[in-house]
Amino acid sequence: MTDVAIVPLSSDDLDLVRRANTPELMDQMGGVETDEQVIARHQRYLRLEREGTGCQFRIVIPGHPEGVGLVGYWHHDVGGEPALEAGWSVEQEYRGRGIAPAAVVAMLDRARAARETLPVHAYPRVDNPASNAVCRKAGFALLGELDFEVSPGNILHTNDWVIELAERTA
Ligand SMILES: CC(C)(COP(=O)(O)OP(=O)(O)OC[C@H]1O[C@@H](n2cnc3c(N)ncnc32)[C@H](O)[C@@H]1OP(=O)(O)O)[C@@H](O)C(=O)NCCC(=O)NCCS
Repeated sequence: MTDVAIVPLSSDDLDLVRRANTPELMDQMGGVETDEQVIARHQRYLRLEREGTGCQFRIVIPGHPEGVGLVGYWHHDVGGEPALEAGWSVEQEYRGRGIAPAAVVAMLDRARAARETLPVHAYPRVDNPASNAVCRKAGFALLGELDFEVSPGNILHTNDWVIELAERTA
C-alpha cells in the first residue's frame, strides 16, 4: 500500500491547486476555473487555517513532495446546523492505489487533533463511483441523496455521507 502523508497547504502550493483545476474535479464543484479564480481559491484555502474554519492539505507520497492531490475540511451549515464538509482529489496518474482513502483518514485525525467535534459530511455526485468508494473506505455512513447547491444556482445531485469525529476519541 502507498505510504501517504498530508501537509497543511502553504503559499508555495499554487501549482498543486492549479493541477487540480480539471473538468472531472471542477464539474463536481461548479466548473473549471480561470487562473484568477484558482489563485483566489488557493488564497481561500490558506485563510481556512488562519481563521480556524478548516484546513486544506497537500497529499504527499514518497518521491512526490510537490503533492499528488488535495484533501481538506471546512465549516458549513446543514439545514442551519453547524457541521464540517470534506473534499478531496488525487491526480490522474496516482489513482487506484488507495491514496485518497488514506489521506481522508489522516485528515479526519488532524481534525480531531484540532479539537473539531462536528460531524463531517461529504457530497460526491451520485454518478462519481470513485469518490463514493472513498467515503465508504474511509468509514463514512451513507445518509441518502440530496440536491446540493455548490454555487448560487448550480445544483448537483449528490449523496450525503457523514462520519462522526467524536465517536473515535474515547
Ligand atoms: C475520487 C478520487 C479522489 C479517488 O482517489 P484514489 O486515490 O484513486 O482512490 P482509490 O485508490 O481508493 O480508488 C477509488 C476508486 O476509484 C476507482 N479506481 C480504481 N483504479 C482507478 C484508476 N486507475 N483510475 C481511476 N479510478 C480508479 C475504483 O472504483 C476505486 O474504488 P475500489 O477500490 O472500490 O475499486 C479520484 O478518483 C479523483 O481525484 N477523482 C476526480 C476528483 C473527484 O471526483 N473528487 C471528489 C469530489 S466529491
